[in-house]
Amino acid sequence: MKRIAVLTSGGDAPGMNAAIRAAVRKAIHGGCEVFGVEYGYTGLLKGQMKIMRYEDVGNIMQRGGTILKTARSTQFPTPEGQDMAMRELTRREIEGVVIIGGDGSFRGAQLLAKRGIKVCGVPGTIDNDIFGTDYTIGFDTACNTVLDAINKIRDTASSHKRIVIIEVMGRDSGWIALAAGLAGGAEFVIVPEIPHDLDFVSDKIIRGMNSGKEHSIVVVAEGAAHGFEVGERLRVSTGYDTRVTVLGHIQRGGSPSAFDRILATRLGAAAVDALLGGETNAMVGLVGNQVAVTSLDVVVNQKRGLDVSLYELEAIMATRLVKT
Ligand code: F6P
Repeated sequence: MKRIAVLTSGGDAPGMNAAIRAAVRKAIHGGCEVFGVEYGYTGLLKGQMKIMRYEDVGNIMQRGGTILKTARSTQFPTPEGQDMAMRELTRREIEGVVIIGGDGSFRGAQLLAKRGIKVCGVPGTIDNDIFGTDYTIGFDTACNTVLDAINKIRDTASSHKRIVIIEVMGRDSGWIALAAGLAGGAEFVIVPEIPHDLDFVSDKIIRGMNSGKEHSIVVVAEGAAHGFEVGERLRVSTGYDTRVTVLGHIQRGGSPSAFDRILATRLGAAAVDALLGGETNAMVGLVGNQVAVTSLDVVVNQKRGLDVSLYELEAIMATRLVKT
């Protein structure tokens, strides 16, 4: 394989640039020419791509976002869209594509693989919802951003003895809420994977406040409930003042953590290794701290579950046992 392309697709995530850098440099190291495709599949079908040299990916490792830009394409899933993309790839004699993104991006990758292009996915999304990897690129940085917010909000919540509700991203996944809640000492974490009962949450908060807690932090995953609705319910049922913060896209930006940079560098390079080794229709992930290659057919058809033991641990940490 002499020519490969790299693209980022779907929602951006901190660490995508480190993955681009790793893929480009590993491919050049392996004797390939590399094309950087702009705006994901949208740019691919328009032929929006340029050669990337070693130095073109310098000074990007520390930057959030993606230098290749990203998009969610509605045209690529159509046969005409794929025809256009194939024309652009074949006229440049590009045989393999590294696709950095989430499961929507991997469904696109499967379509390219069916057309004979070798593809390898790299899991890049803050949601940590991809099967076949313990961590996705961007998740750790997003959790640290949420944690920073929790630390700050806790200061003011304690001063006023308030209940604070922090709504976080994750789409249908509760991973960000759970990890940030566990690390941030939340009283309760509401996630889509596990049913919750606001009366139970309310009782737990009242018991905690009565036993001397100065604040209560509830982390809500966007896929489970709306922060403002939870806030209003808890205000009425507990009688305490509530405040709600919806963190939003702040979670998608910022300089990637060391963990995400290392993960992205390992996986970006591993994707090139996989392509040069003849793999296709695959994704590289980290499983038990080792790089693992999983078929995209498995990746897109399996749901990445939440670690329920972490949820239980979080609940134990937040339960003050009152002596009777
Ligand atoms: O998938 C990443 C994510 O940030 C989700 O957590 C969130 O629900 C969604 O993307 C937001 O997407 P958009 O880029 O359309 O605002």
